[in-house]
Amino acid sequence: MCLVTWPSYFCHPIQALQTGQNPSKLEEMYSKDEQRRLVDLSKRLLQAPDPADALSAAAMAAELREAIVYHEWRYYALNDPVVSDYEYDMLYKKLQVIEAKHPELVTPESPTQRVSSDLTEEFNLVEHLTPMLSLDNSYDAADLASFDERIKNYLGLAADLEIEYCVEPKFDGGTIALVYENDQLVRAATRGNGALGDEITPNIRTLRSVPLRAEFSKFGIAKAELRGEALIRKDVFVKMNEQRAADGDTLLANPRNAATGGLRTKDPSETASRRIEAFVYQVGFAVDAAGNSVLNQFKNHDSLIELLGNIGFKIPQHTPTNGSLGERKVCPNIAEVATFCNDWQNRREQYAYEIDGMVVKANSLELQQRAGSTAHHPRWAIAYKFKAKQATTKLLNVEFQVGKVGSITPVAKLEPVALAGVTVSSVSLHNEDFIRNKDLRLGDTVLVERAGDVIPYIVKPMEELRDGSEREIVFPSNCPVCKSELVRAEDEAAWRCENPDCEAQLIQRMIHHVSKNAMDIDGFGESQIERFYRQGWLHSIADIYRLDYEAIAKLEGFGEKSAKNLQMAIDKAKRNPIYRLLHSLTIHHLGIKAGKILAAEIENVMDLAGWDEERFRQIKDIGPVLTHNVIRFFQNEKNVAILREMEALGVNFSQTDEDRPKAVSADAPLAGKTILFTGTLLKMGRKEAQAKAEAAGAKNISAVSGNLDYLVVGEDAGSKLKKAQALGTVTILTEDEFLELVGG
Ligand code: IVH
Repeated sequence: MCLVTWPSYFCHPIQALQTGQNPSKLEEMYSKDEQRRLVDLSKRLLQAPDPADALSAAAMAAELREAIVYHEWRYYALNDPVVSDYEYDMLYKKLQVIEAKHPELVTPESPTQRVSSDLTEEFNLVEHLTPMLSLDNSYDAADLASFDERIKNYLGLAADLEIEYCVEPKFDGGTIALVYENDQLVRAATRGNGALGDEITPNIRTLRSVPLRAEFSKFGIAKAELRGEALIRKDVFVKMNEQRAADGDTLLANPRNAATGGLRTKDPSETASRRIEAFVYQVGFAVDAAGNSVLNQFKNHDSLIELLGNIGFKIPQHTPTNGSLGERKVCPNIAEVATFCNDWQNRREQYAYEIDGMVVKANSLELQQRAGSTAHHPRWAIAYKFKAKQATTKLLNVEFQVGKVGSITPVAKLEPVALAGVTVSSVSLHNEDFIRNKDLRLGDTVLVERAGDVIPYIVKPMEELRDGSEREIVFPSNCPVCKSELVRAEDEAAWRCENPDCEAQLIQRMIHHVSKNAMDIDGFGESQIERFYRQGWLHSIADIYRLDYEAIAKLEGFGEKSAKNLQMAIDKAKRNPIYRLLHSLTIHHLGIKAGKILAAEIENVMDLAGWDEERFRQIKDIGPVLTHNVIRFFQNEKNVAILREMEALGVNFSQTDEDRPKAVSADAPLAGKTILFTGTLLKMGRKEAQAKAEAAGAKNISAVSGNLDYLVVGEDAGSKLKKAQALGTVTILTEDEFLELVGG
């Protein structure tokens, strides 16, 4: 009798033994002990001195690789790292240093060999080991029920028999096929036409969620082809586009295009920079050394996917992470499949990746084999498609909005269309180049998409639906509000109205002035600003401080109480620290951070009026563009007059304690020193500690660098401590030592 716990991947012990495997050896990717060992190893490696000779270099390189591959798996496949990014980077750098010194030690599977420099001239077409079929579609529970029925009919099964299904998200990215031979990734390709795809191996090698080596041989698999999807997280995509906008690069349409574009670039380092991840969800082909298929030896689809997870791949997980639904579920019958699909449809927006439905697969591999495929799709699987997030509608008009610094944003007015739960009638067209690049025209039927948290946007005009009545979108040469001529700087994407008195800008500036990040006037927002403006009460931001509250109380929808509350909120804002006031003035590029930096240098806001370029240059972190903008602002007499009015109306213009760098004597214990706290402090809170340090003359900084004098370490200090130790120039203090130093 067999006492070992039987791993769930195989259908039968005898069959597994036939593949030459000892079942007791079939463990997960890393056992708990193994993981502990690797974490200890990592710690040791981080502190180890450089290897002295070639022999110890080889040993250390092997250990570093083992540790790095483990951390990449935790981070990229499980999304659950056990070391900080910094520690991972240090391990990686150590390996790079050794490999640079001893090139003979470099192996193709080394984690440093992901990005190669070979630029592919043309993609090679490669044939998939088995054709990559499409999926049939379903849209509701009834469709699913008839799919279930079709299988039973086809296989001659009883109508009341329940088929077990495995259900996974239908990832909306770029489909990929990965070929592993003798445990090594040897080829990666796009789906292409299903039979032939483009070879993109150098690009796929850069994805850290794709193992370069995986132990298929443990399961008697000599060669396998896996199918999966390359994706970019929705939040990563949004940030990436923000960065592109800031850099003046063209924007990427959606996470899917960003991923597929990233896979098809000729430069693997470009792929690497896009933070693409890959899930695997299907084994298309698996043979043993003799070339015989081994797929029928595995228990079912679900356990096969689990197995892939256990040898290092990123898979749709069973276990819910952060309270969300599990990604993969085995359902005992088609009714439960429908429920699971519906649950996902409702939660789809919260998911980190774009998905356009669920994929329902008969779990039994034996049943899959018997059901087979049509020329187009497998009979044992079906896609459950979510409600469309794309729709077509008419582009009726384009309005040009003026922002607070005068930039003109074209906004498309659309015939209202329902899109994944919201009605869309207006979308930003960003700038003139966006309109020209897409060749959008008035009257066009346009394809609109709403992807996850990404705001709706126009994908493209439907050129085939044009009837000749469409008209060019004419970008105005004058401000739509004040009519002054628009200007476009050479390196900017936006046309700008440069008239500071432009009514539209004025309203936008006032809206910014009262907003949360600026003066933070509670209960005062866009609609109040617009209303008071129409009443003729607001001509500049100074007027905000001379509102007639009695008149406001008489406005419809206001009353005594709201007027009183508004007055209190405005009075409170008058006492704001000056960095808020500085940010509220709408000086281009002067945000909260720059506001704080400048505030620390002045006694009164008006001091800035007397500053020249040289004075700004003395401040680290204040660049020439901001300098120019501040100088220009104060050169404008109207601005100065408004500021004077505000000061007379009681708005605080002087340093507050919050702004003022604490006065400390030169002999304070930490005078002129920089300090950083890391880890969990036990004797005081982080803020309290920082205040103590400041009182003792130190400046709190946020990163370990050559500029850091003291690092105070609490419990579980991590990468910052390591870095400080590595630098060797930082004085490291315990909490007690710090308290002793500052005297209390
Ligand atoms: S299985 C023979 N599972 O959807 C069945 N496909 O129209 C092969 N897709 O481009 C596909 N997520 O690559 C499967 N969890 C998933 C999937 C998935 C996305 C893609 C697939 C293909 C399309 C099918």
